[in-house]
Amino acid sequence: MSQPFYITTPIYYVNDRPHLGHAYTTIVADVASRFHSMRQVDTFFLTGTDEHGDKVVRAAKNENLTPRVYVNKISSLFKALWPELKIKYDYFIRTTDVNHISAVEHVMKKIYDSGDIYFSEYKGLYCFGCERFYTERELVDGKCPDHETTPEPIEESNYFFKMSRYQNWLIDHIKGHPDFITPERYKNEVLSFLKEPLEDLCISRPKKRLKWGITLPFDKDYVIYVWFDALLNYVSALGYPDGELFKTFWSSALHVVGKDILKPHGIYWPIMLRAAGIPVYKHLKVHGYWNVDQSKMSKSIGNVVEPLQLKSIYGLDAFRYFLMREMTFGLDSNFGEDALVQRINSDLANDLGNLFSRVLTMAHKYFSGIVPKVDMKVENELHLGLESAAMTTIVEFEKDMEMFAFHKALMKIWDFIGQLNKYIDITAPWELAKKKSSRRQLEIVIYNLLEGLRIISGLIYPVMPDKAKTMQAHLGLDANGPFYNLDTLKTWKTLKPGTTLPKSITLFPRIDPKKDKVLPSEIDASLSMVPAIKPEITIDDLREVDLRVGTVIRAETIPRAKKLLKLEVDIGEKRTIVAGISESYNPDDLVGKQVVVVANLKAAKLMGIRSNGMLLAAVADTECAVATFDKKVKKGTPIG
Ligand code: MSP
Repeated sequence: MSQPFYITTPIYYVNDRPHLGHAYTTIVADVASRFHSMRQVDTFFLTGTDEHGDKVVRAAKNENLTPRVYVNKISSLFKALWPELKIKYDYFIRTTDVNHISAVEHVMKKIYDSGDIYFSEYKGLYCFGCERFYTERELVDGKCPDHETTPEPIEESNYFFKMSRYQNWLIDHIKGHPDFITPERYKNEVLSFLKEPLEDLCISRPKKRLKWGITLPFDKDYVIYVWFDALLNYVSALGYPDGELFKTFWSSALHVVGKDILKPHGIYWPIMLRAAGIPVYKHLKVHGYWNVDQSKMSKSIGNVVEPLQLKSIYGLDAFRYFLMREMTFGLDSNFGEDALVQRINSDLANDLGNLFSRVLTMAHKYFSGIVPKVDMKVENELHLGLESAAMTTIVEFEKDMEMFAFHKALMKIWDFIGQLNKYIDITAPWELAKKKSSRRQLEIVIYNLLEGLRIISGLIYPVMPDKAKTMQAHLGLDANGPFYNLDTLKTWKTLKPGTTLPKSITLFPRIDPKKDKVLPSEIDASLSMVPAIKPEITIDDLREVDLRVGTVIRAETIPRAKKLLKLEVDIGEKRTIVAGISESYNPDDLVGKQVVVVANLKAAKLMGIRSNGMLLAAVADTECAVATFDKKVKKGTPIG
C-alpha cells in the first residue's frame, strides 16, 4: 500500500444554503479522492459544516430559530446534498460536535501554555460579514473587499495570538516546499502578503457580544474566534491528538479551498499548527470562483445556481463533467447554461456516447454481443498503435490528475476517444464484415475497440462514477472487481473473449437547447432551493386543513420585528394574522389582496401578538410570494 491520502473541503458556513460554488469544491475533492482510490491508496475524505460565530446567530435570528435548531437544519441540508451528487466522503464534521470542541480546547490550552497567546486592549475595524478585524491597508476604498461594506470601529479587550513570531518560519517553509500552496499564483499571493509585518491575530470574542461559540478554556467570559475553531476541524475529525486516523492520515493532508479563504489557510492555519507542535499540512490547493455574469456566485448578490436543479435537468454525471472540464483549476470561470448544453452535446453525446453505441452495436451485429477472441497472428497489422496510445493516455491522465489539472486529464481521455473513432474509420469494420476471409481481422478490431472502451470507462470513473459503471456493465466486466484500478487499466487485453455483452444504450441523451433548457437564463436565486417532496398523504389528510379565501383589510409593521407584519384578514370573520413576509411586501401593497388562509391552525403568540391563522406563500430564503387568486372570490369560500 502506498502513502495514504487525506483530502478535505472547507467546512461550509450554515448561514447559506449549498450552491454550485460549494458543490464544485466538494466535487473536486471527491474526484481527487476517487482518483487516489484508483491507485489503491488508502484515502480519507472529510467535509462538514462550520456552525459557530456571529453570522450564524444572525441567520438563525432571521428565521426565528435558536442557533442550535438552525444549525441542525442547515447542516442537514448539506449532508443530504452530498450523496445526491455522489460525493463519497468518509466523515462529516460539525464544529458543534463534542469531539471537535474538546480537540479545540486541547489545542488552545497548548498554545496558551507555550506563551503564544496574550491579553490586550484592541481598537480596530471589524467586518461582521467576515467576522474579523481589518487593517486599513486591507480595505478597498475603506470597505471590506469581500462584502463591500464599511467595517465598524470596535474597541474591546481580547486574546491575541502571536502570529508575528512565526512569520519568518512560514516564509521559509513556503519557499522550501514549492508544492505547499498551488497553483503558483496563490503561493505568490501569500508570499507577497508576508512581505509586510504580520499582525497578531485576535482569537477571542467577548461573550457579552457573542455567546454562540466554544468557550476559551482559560477564560470563561470569552468564546474562541470562529476561524480558530473552524480550522481545527481538519485535525479534530481525525481524532487529534491520539486518534489512529490522525496517526495514519495527517501527514498526507491536502486541503482544497476557494481563493476567498486563502489567507486563513495559507497563513493562520500553518502558524497555528506550528505553534501547537503539530506538523503542518502537506498541500493547499486553491481554486477560483464560479461567476455568473462576471460576479462571484453568492447569496447576497442573488445569483446562486442550484446544483440539484442542474442534476435533475441534465443528469449528475454530465453536470460533474462540465464542472471539471470547464474550469481550469485555480482560475475563475463563468457559469453559463449554454456552455453546459454545448459540452453535453458535443463531448458526451457525440464523442463518447456515439463511440460507445457504435462499438457495442457492431459487437452485437457481427458477434451476437459476444467478446470476440483474438488471433495473435493478425493482431499486429491491425494494432495501429492503439495499445501504446491507451498507455500514454493513462500515464498523462495520472500526471494531470495528480496536479489537479482536471480539465487537461479529461482532454487526454477525449484525445483517446478521437483516436478510437479514427481507428474505426481506418479499419472500416463494415468492410471487413463483408468477406468471410477477413473474419479474424474483424475480431481483433472489435476486440481492440472494446478494450479501448474499457480503458475509457476506468478513466472517467472519478468524474463520472455512474456512467463509468454503466459502461463497465456493458463491457461485461466483473461488478465486484475494481474496473477502475489503474494497474488493471494498464494491462491491455483484460476483456475475456466469450463474455456476453448487454445491448447498447444511449449513454448521454442529446439536449435540445430550445426544448430541454428549462432553467431561466436569469436564475431566480430566491426560489432556487427546491426542497425534497414530503412523504405522501391521503386526500383525507388534506381535508383536515381548512383553507379559506380571505381579504386583507389592514396591514402594519411590528416594531423591532424585522420580518413580521400584522394583518387583519376577513374570512367571513375577522382574524389577526402575523406573517413573516415583511422583507417582500410593503404593508400597503397587501391591503385589498385576496389570500389563502389556513383557518384551523392553532393560534400562536408572535412578538406578543396572538396570531390566529396563517397565510399561504411560496417561501425561499428571505424572499416570498403570497398565494392569491386570478379572479375575485367571495371571502370565506372554502378552498379544496
Ligand atoms: N466556513 C468557512 C470555511 C472554514 S474552513 C476551515 C467558509 N465557508 S463558506 O461556506 O463561505 O465556503 C467558502 C467556500 O465555498 C469557498 O472557499 C469555496 O470552496 C466554495 N465557494 C463558495 N462560493 C464559490 C464560488 N462562487 N465559486 C467557487 N467556489 C465557491 O468560508
